[in-house]
Amino acid sequence: MSAQLSVLFVCLGNICRSPTAQGVFEQQLREAGLSDQVYVDSAGTAGWHHGKAPDPRTQQVAHRRGYDLSRLRARQVEMEDFRRFDLILAMDEQNLRDLQALAPVDFDGELRLLLELTHPGQRKAVPDPYYTEGDAGFHEVVDLIEGASRVLLEHLRTRLPL
Ligand code: 4NP
Repeated sequence: MSAQLSVLFVCLGNICRSPTAQGVFEQQLREAGLSDQVYVDSAGTAGWHHGKAPDPRTQQVAHRRGYDLSRLRARQVEMEDFRRFDLILAMDEQNLRDLQALAPVDFDGELRLLLELTHPGQRKAVPDPYYTEGDAGFHEVVDLIEGASRVLLEHLRTRLPL
């Protein structure tokens, strides 16, 4: 990893919320000309969907909103992630608790709830759309993530060398 900073987005299955976050944030970085400086990945606390592309509903809604998630493949969080990533952002409180339980005592990165960026102090989750009907829940995921990504980009800009 030669990038200056690295960010890992984490949800449960790594087929809905965190791949959306990866795709949206990578695109915002491209548009800002910062792709080479920030390494982005996503993972799930569970390994059930290992190797699978994002859920078809996630891909379809993301595609309609201008994001191509088709090349992404699910994987489970691994211990090495706590060494490789400066910033680990969880989609909900359960993901955060699972990550806190896994983190080695010498983990010196930041581990946070993603939506604390846009809703500080509210402990707001990106709701899991997997068991919902229709595509409204998937659009809500993109809405929340687009907002948080913009704030994240501005935060990271201040940490990158000029
Ligand atoms: P994600 O959504 O955590 O946003 O990827 C889910 C995907 C799959 C399952 C649950 C949530 N599942 O139970 O298989």
